Amino acid sequence: MTTLTPQPTRSYSLSDWQGGHRSQTEELAYWIDDIEGQVPLELAGTLFRNGPGRLDINGQRFHHPFDGDGMINSFVFRQGRVFYRNRFVRTAGYQAEQAAGRILYRGVFGTQKPGGLLANCLDLRLKNIANTQVIYWGDKLLALWEAAEPHRLDPYTLETLGLDTLEGLLAPGDAFAAHPRIDPAGRLVNFAVKPGPVTTLSLYEFDPAGRLVSQQARQIQGFAFLHDFALTPHYAIFFQNPMRFNPLPYLLGLAGAAQCLQFLADQPTKIVVIPRDPGRPVQTLLGPSCFVFHHANAYELGDSLVVDSICYDHFPSLPPQGDYRQVDFSQLPAGQLRRFTLNLPSAQVETETLLSRCCEFPQVHPDVVGRPYAQVYLAVAHEPQGNAPLQAIAAMDVTTGAEQVWSAAPRGFVSEPVYVPHPDSQNETGGWLLSVVYDAERQASDLVILDAAHVSHGPLARLKLRHHIPYGLHGTFTPHDFGPQ
Ligand code: CO
Repeated sequence: MTTLTPQPTRSYSLSDWQGGHRSQTEELAYWIDDIEGQVPLELAGTLFRNGPGRLDINGQRFHHPFDGDGMINSFVFRQGRVFYRNRFVRTAGYQAEQAAGRILYRGVFGTQKPGGLLANCLDLRLKNIANTQVIYWGDKLLALWEAAEPHRLDPYTLETLGLDTLEGLLAPGDAFAAHPRIDPAGRLVNFAVKPGPVTTLSLYEFDPAGRLVSQQARQIQGFAFLHDFALTPHYAIFFQNPMRFNPLPYLLGLAGAAQCLQFLADQPTKIVVIPRDPGRPVQTLLGPSCFVFHHANAYELGDSLVVDSICYDHFPSLPPQGDYRQVDFSQLPAGQLRRFTLNLPSAQVETETLLSRCCEFPQVHPDVVGRPYAQVYLAVAHEPQGNAPLQAIAAMDVTTGAEQVWSAAPRGFVSEPVYVPHPDSQNETGGWLLSVVYDAERQASDLVILDAAHVSHGPLARLKLRHHIPYGLHGTFTPHDFGPQ
């Protein structure tokens, strides 16, 4: 007689999920002709998305998807039709490895060159992989990766035009973060981190023409791993999570730089509040120990700042060896949406969980960035509890807790829902959500369009691509039409 161990119910199969981690080496351009439902006629402009497009070179796999070469996807919406195009960013590293047919660079997230320790020891060259975000601002399309300069691209053809110094602002090798935020008052704000025992944090503001209008550099104590920030009319807010960096395994060629980060569970998170007015002092508050990649939004409320962020109980790192595609989701912490209320005069920090369902990639209506708001849109797990792949899209009212969910489970896997306001939008729900969904049934991806006011009604339209797009990171929408002339 055998006893069956009850298996936890799962909304997905690991082999289905793994299918979205295959390289896409083809570069294509075509009008999408397989469409379920109707593309709204008022939806006009271009969605750009970035993410790792190549996850191996001739079968030599990168250790982590974050080490994959950036591939840009564009979707042009024109009178109910949609034109798709994808192209790799021709970074120096991409071109060299393409020519060699093998891995030539170590990756920040643990990719090592073939040849073992001797080949990797003291090779500290950084490969700018341009894979995290893509944004159109000041007549430039820029592919961003936080540890180095942006690459400029042709917005019509996605051809790489070269590294961009932002009119001489950046010197060769300078960092420029992959998380710019757009203040609805008409400023693009972004930051750069120069790590060290004392971290230098630079903050830049650009007008709509792309001209630098404000620049400041602040010193913060200790090592800081900063991926994103939150913005209000008067402040830029950074979460310096309790991490230690021990560079030895990296220097010795044993591990990637990001694998040398150690989470310090007994240490507080330092919340660094930088006034956008360079003449005012920085204030640092202490919050609970946690790890944050992404912030949803923030706003000013009297003497307080309210910051809503996706929090992990600890840094969700993978074991240094082994295959990320075999990950046991239940062994990693789930992201949860938490509210931090920072009382600036008393330096007190209060926290509250807004959404305990596993979530990531928060978005809000562009008009409420840094303002009091109600609606947040997220990629979430199908089940309300536990850590799992992102298979559903949620709209949540943070003032009432009301939630709407559309799920692509069991065989669909979603990406960040990019928010596009309706041209006559009067409120936070007057728009659409655009998400690339990997469909394991077809082994191909769909672009799904949801009505932001009626997420639980399911897609208004599902545009079926002829191929898959590997799981992506971030994207942005511009009302400009960059389609074929
Ligand atoms: Co990010």
